[in-house]
Amino acid sequence: MGKIIIAASGKGGVGKSVFTVNLGATFAERGVKVVMIDMNLGLRNLDIYLGLENRVIFDVADVLGGLCGYKRALLRDKRFSCLHMIPATQDRRKFAFDAETVADFYAGLRENYDYVLVDGPAGVGRDMALAAAGGDIAVIITTLEYVALRDADMADRVLSEAGVTQRACVLNKVNRRLMRSGLFPSFEDVSARVRPPLVGIIQYDENIHISANCGVPIVHQKGSYIEENFNRIADRLLGL
Ligand SMILES: Nc1ncnc2c1ncn2[C@@H]1O[C@H](COP(=O)(O)OP(=O)(O)OP(=O)(O)O)[C@@H](O)[C@H]1O
Ligand SMILES: [Mg+2]
Repeated sequence: MGKIIIAASGKGGVGKSVFTVNLGATFAERGVKVVMIDMNLGLRNLDIYLGLENRVIFDVADVLGGLCGYKRALLRDKRFSCLHMIPATQDRRKFAFDAETVADFYAGLRENYDYVLVDGPAGVGRDMALAAAGGDIAVIITTLEYVALRDADMADRVLSEAGVTQRACVLNKVNRRLMRSGLFPSFEDVSARVRPPLVGIIQYDENIHISANCGVPIVHQKGSYIEENFNRIADRLLGL
């Protein structure tokens, strides 16, 4: 039976969607069967990050609302046959689900996949708790800014209340040169402010913007340090 991993954050724009598609691609490269669910309802992004935006017909709200089975809404990755995704809805009228419906949906998916990777919305509101319903592991993404760290800690509390018992933290957009300047939080500052253990860092790389615009996860660029960052994170998450 597969595991459900939720990518979450308090602050927006810290890299949850980039994390989801690159972790998905890293898992798939190892032959792990993965489905990524875009639960950022109203703000669909994952399809663009994977270059699949022209293939969207059904979305996650159609599945949750009972209009179609999840297989109809699945999109297959262009490179890996074991990597699938279900896009978010853009239609705000289709948001009336409860946590039980979402948890049942994930439970059905875990029967057929090794990992269900959920790209959650930013914030600590109802949408985030809904995306996390029934999740096994939450990976809280944060950047090295004090505001992001405080928001990550708030997200951790909400995820705990939502019943996600295993929680971990990933630092994204890390710039070692700036860290050495002493003007950014240190790793000690991070662990003093955010309770879940750190499972990895992802360095800042402007090529991520290019790969996002081309619809190709950056881990496909072989030999890069970003690929190494994701391999380490995948090793740790597969071990949980
Ligand atoms: N390691 C990185 N280096 C450089 N840019 C990055 C990195 N990670 C993410 N980005 C950029 O940061 C921006 C936000 O990324 P992303 O969409 O993944 O964030 P998000 O947390 O999903 O946002 P939202 O809260 O809106 O869903 C994008 O422009 C993306 O290209
Ligand atoms: Mg996102």
